[in-house]
Amino acid sequence: MDQQTSRVDVGIVGGGPAGLMTALLLKRRGISAAVVERRSQEAIRTTQRAGILEAPTVDMLVDAEIGSRVLTEGHEHEGTVLSFDGVQHRIDFQELVGRSVWLYPQNEVFRDLATAWQAEGGEIHWEADDVAVEGLESEAPVITFTDAAGEPGRIEAQLIVGADGSRSMCRRLIPDEVRTDYFTSYPFAWFGILCEAPPTAPELIYANSEVGFALISQRNEDITRMYFQCDPDTDPESWSEEAIFDHIQQVLGGEEVVQLKRGRIIEKTVLPFRSYVCDPLTHGRLVLAGDAGHTVPPTGAKGLNLAFSDVRALVPRIVEFLEGLTGGEGLTAGADDVGSGPGAPADLTAPLRRYSATSLDRVWKAQNFSWWATNLLHRAPDEDEFAHHRRRGEFRAITGSVHGQAYFADSYTGWAGDRHD
Ligand code: PHB
Repeated sequence: MDQQTSRVDVGIVGGGPAGLMTALLLKRRGISAAVVERRSQEAIRTTQRAGILEAPTVDMLVDAEIGSRVLTEGHEHEGTVLSFDGVQHRIDFQELVGRSVWLYPQNEVFRDLATAWQAEGGEIHWEADDVAVEGLESEAPVITFTDAAGEPGRIEAQLIVGADGSRSMCRRLIPDEVRTDYFTSYPFAWFGILCEAPPTAPELIYANSEVGFALISQRNEDITRMYFQCDPDTDPESWSEEAIFDHIQQVLGGEEVVQLKRGRIIEKTVLPFRSYVCDPLTHGRLVLAGDAGHTVPPTGAKGLNLAFSDVRALVPRIVEFLEGLTGGEGLTAGADDVGSGPGAPADLTAPLRRYSATSLDRVWKAQNFSWWATNLLHRAPDEDEFAHHRRRGEFRAITGSVHGQAYFADSYTGWAGDRHD
C-alpha cells in the first residue's frame, strides 16, 4: 500500500492541548505543522481534567483567535475557599495579588483547539497506531505511524515536538545518559466524581479534616465535579452514592458550615498522584512540551497552565531554530552555544536548550507549589499526632496572615512577572 508522506516544518506527537496550541501558534507565524495522536477525539474530549486557567492561559486562547468561548462560557473566580476542620477561610486573589483565575474545563479547551485546527485545514491524524520517531540526531527527523484506516503514514520535519502526555513515548527517546528523571509519589489518590448537581458554593472549596481532603469544584449550573482523598488501590465501585456524599459533607464540616449539593453520580474515577520532571526537555531535534516533560499532582491546578506556559516559551525558540537552519537573521551564536568556537558554525539547537532551561525554571516552581499544597491539605495515612498538629499550624500561618494568604494567591494564580513573553 502507498505510504502517505507529508513534509512540514514541525511534526507534533500528541493532539492534546499542548500539541494543538503549539500547532496553532506556529501556523500564526507561517510555520507548517502536522499532528499525530493515538487517542480518538471523543476519548480526549470526555476525559475529565482540572478546570482552572490562569490569566495568561486565558490570554493565549483569546489571542490565538480560536473563538472566545472561554470568555463567554468560562467563569472568573476572584478567590477560593480553604477549609480546615470545618472552618472556612476565603483567599481573595484580587485583593491580595490583583489577579483572578477562570473556571473553564480542559475538555472545553481541547474542543476549542481541535475545532480551530481542523477548521483551518490543519493536518491531524487521530487514532494513530504504532507511532514512532526516528532520526532525532540527524537533520531529517521523521514520525511514522499507522493511520485510523490502517494505512502507513509518514511525516518528515525539521523538528519534532513531543506533546504526548504523561506516559510519553517521545520522552524515552532522550537517551538515558543525558536524561535525568525526577520523580516522587504520594501515599494517596483522589476519588473524582461528576454528578448532576448545581454548584455547592460560588467558588471552589479545598477542604481538609481529620478524615482527609476534599475539593468541591464546578462544571456548570447542572453538573458538579468533586474529589476526595482515597487510597490509591480504591475500587470506585466500592463506594455507594450516599457514602460518597456523606463523606464529603463530613470533610466540609457539618451542614451548618456548608450544605453539599447532591445529585446522581455519572462518573467515578480514582486518580493516582505523581510529580515528575524530565531534564532536559530537549535532545537533538526533539523538544518536549506539557505533561510529556513534567507531571504535577492536581491540587494546585497547574497541569494545563504549565503546558501553555511551555508553548508560550517554545514557539519563539522554534522560530529562532528554523531561522537558524536557513541562515536567517534570527540566529546568533550566544553564550550558551556550547562548542561553537570562533569561526565554527553556530549550534543550531541552542534555542531549544534555552527553551528547556526557561521552562524547567517555571516547572520547578509549580512542582514546589503543587507538592506543598498537596501535603498541606491531605492527611497522610501514617501521619502521627506531631505531624498533624504541625500541619494545622502551617495552615493557620497561611490563612491567618495576609502574607501567607498572598503566597497562596500568588502561586495559585500563576506568579505575575514570571511570564515568558
Ligand atoms: C477540577 O475542576 O477538576 C479541578 C479544579 C481545581 C483543582 C483540580 C481539579 O485543583
